[in-house]
Amino acid sequence: MRDYWNKRFAEEGMIWGCEPSQTVTQAIDLFKKNNAHHILVPGAGYGRNTKMFSSCFQVDGIEISSSAIDLAKEWDLKTNFIRESVLEFRTSKRYDGIYCYDLLHLFLLEDRKKLIQNCVMHLKGQGVMYFTCFSDRDFNNGVGRKVEEGTYEYKKGKYAHFFTEENLIEHFNDLNILETGSIKEYLTHAEKQQEYELRYIIVQNIG
Ligand SMILES: C[S@@+](CC[C@H](N)C(=O)[O-])C[C@H]1O[C@@H](n2cnc3c(N)ncnc32)[C@H](O)[C@@H]1O
Repeated sequence: MRDYWNKRFAEEGMIWGCEPSQTVTQAIDLFKKNNAHHILVPGAGYGRNTKMFSSCFQVDGIEISSSAIDLAKEWDLKTNFIRESVLEFRTSKRYDGIYCYDLLHLFLLEDRKKLIQNCVMHLKGQGVMYFTCFSDRDFNNGVGRKVEEGTYEYKKGKYAHFFTEENLIEHFNDLNILETGSIKEYLTHAEKQQEYELRYIIVQNIG
């Protein structure tokens, strides 16, 4: 995974432009409502989303790709970027809020569970999390070799899991589910606008 992302960021730079996702505004409202100060962003990329969070909160971003972090450090001066896998990441810090954009669907089931468990382990007692992922309604669902239920190798060596609402809820069953929803996200890539169908889930720790 690291080699794939390093190569992409080194060759393509700020792949999805510099505008944050539309979901960031909703996540900021959620974090403010919950009096959050410390936010963790797993899979932070080159800081497209962290920059808006770091104007309101103290932010740590975890990112596996050093070329993404090189870009991120120039784009978002306030976030503390840590080069580490989200599956291995450990700190004694506990966060009020976690925002995780389009990372969860990149893993097979066992690692999806590991990612969520690791996030919960770093969340404060009543902390909240906002996750987005590919929807089963996305145009890429079913493309390529089936690897697991709902998961396809849609590009060589790259998996994506496509979530139904029920399946997404199942992943977060041990937490208090506050909201789920669907959104269309439009990202410009290689001068072409691409439409993605995403799902999001907002959960609270039962601590
Ligand atoms: C689809 S991109 C989304 C990036 C960013 N959230 C954004 O919206 O601009 C997924 C990101 O997760 C990073 N990533 C993939 N596997 C990771 C892992 N195991 N640990 C940390 N980051 C990872 C990739 O390098 C990439 O930056």
